[in-house]
Amino acid sequence: MSTIRDVAKEAGLSTGTVSKALSAPKTVTPKNLSKVQSAIKKLNYKPNMLSQKFRNKQSKTIVVLVPDIANLFFAQVISGIEHIAQKQGYSVLLGDTKDDINREQEYINMVETRLADGIINLRPFIKGDSMLPNDDVIAVSAGGCENTPYPSVRIDNAGASEKVVNYLLSLGHKRIGVISGLAKNPHTLDRLAGYKKALEKAGIAFCEKLIYEGDFNYWSGLNASEYFYRMNDKMPTAIFSMNDQMATSAMKGFLNHGVRIPEDVSITGFDDSQVSRYLNPALTTVSQPAEQIGEKSADLLLQLIEGKKPNQTEFVLPYDFVIRESTCALLK
Ligand code: RIB
Repeated sequence: MSTIRDVAKEAGLSTGTVSKALSAPKTVTPKNLSKVQSAIKKLNYKPNMLSQKFRNKQSKTIVVLVPDIANLFFAQVISGIEHIAQKQGYSVLLGDTKDDINREQEYINMVETRLADGIINLRPFIKGDSMLPNDDVIAVSAGGCENTPYPSVRIDNAGASEKVVNYLLSLGHKRIGVISGLAKNPHTLDRLAGYKKALEKAGIAFCEKLIYEGDFNYWSGLNASEYFYRMNDKMPTAIFSMNDQMATSAMKGFLNHGVRIPEDVSITGFDDSQVSRYLNPALTTVSQPAEQIGEKSADLLLQLIEGKKPNQTEFVLPYDFVIRESTCALLK
């Protein structure tokens, strides 16, 4: 079996350069990287990554905590994280926590016991119901909310929601329903704050009955459409759904009842997950820069793991508002 020394000899490089090429390929020149790769291939060399990790006292692994692995928004954030981690020689371990903080703690233990170097948490911080921050664990919050007490990368959720509701108001809608996430979820609170602000500026009174509490999953969007449909002539003429998943199933629910979108009810989403442009009608939505959120979070986490002191540890990235076919001017 060939050793790292054989690879170094074959490549005409030092063992140190070969070791760097294996653990952090970005840190060697493309020419040397290619020499190492050719030598590895020629000798069929299988590096013992485990012993390397112990030597470096780093696991070269980061954990990503995902509350709902089926949500396409999270999938896009993870893809951004993978992209940066891979470039810098780190592996990514997915922790599908199902929004359960006990599961979160199990993954946090991995960092405490040095089986992983740090964590990117996709679940927003909830005061009194979060296992992070933890002084012994390097962590970054990705796609979270305002007032996150550890390094974070997100968009302005309240501002984006206000923009959506202003748009619906500009189309003449005054009865605007909301499909929210769980009431305690900070995304719900931030996005609801934006909704309320837009209504207040337009002089429209807030009505509790127009808020349906969902949970960001498909089934709750479907239930919300039933709830609104049963309002008969009091049914909202527009609906702001706090994510695309719930908007998608609400659209299906309305169409099942013969309610036309957007002629009878305009619908907006949040995320711009990959499916939203292919729906019929295509969904008007807030486009979160999901991949960039992932990339920036990974970049920030790796800097912190490597002991650097970044000047900035809170990033609010720009979003887009994408107008498609699921919204139109009030017809009645
Ligand atoms: O937690 C669920 C939602 O929050 C996602 O769909 C996305 O909008 C995230 O910000």
